[in-house]
Amino acid sequence: MRPTFHQLELFREVARQGSFTKAAKKLSIAQPTVSGQIKQLSQGIGLPLFEKVGRQLFLTEAGEMLLDSCREMFDSLDRLEMAMADLQGQRRGRLKLAVVTTAQYVVPKLLGEFCQEYPDVDVALRVLNHAQLSDRMGSNADDLYVLSHIPEHVDLEFQPFVDNSLMVVAGRSHPLALQAMASGGREKIPIQKLANQDFVMREPGSGTRRAVEEHFARHKLSVQVRLDLSTNEAIAQAVASGLGMAVLSRHCLASGITNPDLVPLEVEHFPIRCQWYVAHLKAKQLSVVAESFRDRLLHYDEFSEHQLIGSPSLVMS
Ligand code: PGA
Repeated sequence: MRPTFHQLELFREVARQGSFTKAAKKLSIAQPTVSGQIKQLSQGIGLPLFEKVGRQLFLTEAGEMLLDSCREMFDSLDRLEMAMADLQGQRRGRLKLAVVTTAQYVVPKLLGEFCQEYPDVDVALRVLNHAQLSDRMGSNADDLYVLSHIPEHVDLEFQPFVDNSLMVVAGRSHPLALQAMASGGREKIPIQKLANQDFVMREPGSGTRRAVEEHFARHKLSVQVRLDLSTNEAIAQAVASGLGMAVLSRHCLASGITNPDLVPLEVEHFPIRCQWYVAHLKAKQLSVVAESFRDRLLHYDEFSEHQLIGSPSLVMS
């Protein structure tokens, strides 16, 4: 028996929710209808699609295979719908993005402009750290990614987007900040002076953390991590209140989340020059909407932003 479209939609929702009850609620239908349809689907295929371990529902191997096919099928239908809308001169459909945390200071702004222009486009934006983002790539759940380090385990098509330099920051009363202020910000702090400082770092799995550790290792220094925190905002607050130094993206500093007690420092061999890329899975056929947002990203002119990022002397004055 061939699966029906309705059964596949129900199956996809149960897999997403990990629960028959939650899927029924989400789709506003009775739970026994969902269970009955999944049972029929599974009988038609001849293999169980889910298994229950304790109270948790897991996909079986057959379930995983069916879910992959469902994704391709629904993706292809979405693309068709968007291409048809495009033929009719409309831009509508879904756009699914996943970006690393540092890109959250830039991408939503562009997304806002895009959505104003195309109000019929639904957008889902996930903000994750580097490791979570590269894990997510395996599930083919998004159209586009913005990230700095291109993972090797997935076949990606990628293009450079905007540079994501990482700068050293300290609290206003930190000895190195006082020293920099005394010199009027004219002398660069030797990188060796960072060796014995306490650092507030992003969590393991963060791309920023990896870039900092690799940079220190290149200069034969090790970072002394006093505290790790999972958001750039929390790091900015911790540093401003004197808990140590940090290395933050220039976009984070330009975003206005930082406070006046946080000062960027001119340190030798800094900023660390990182680059964001706009990427998508090579096997993925981008929809009209995704292509047009990718073009928007690739043509982003951030010139005006450069002026927002204060040089250390400006910020400290
Ligand atoms: P992160 O990644 O959010 O994991 O620190 C930032 C980056 O890779 O640019």
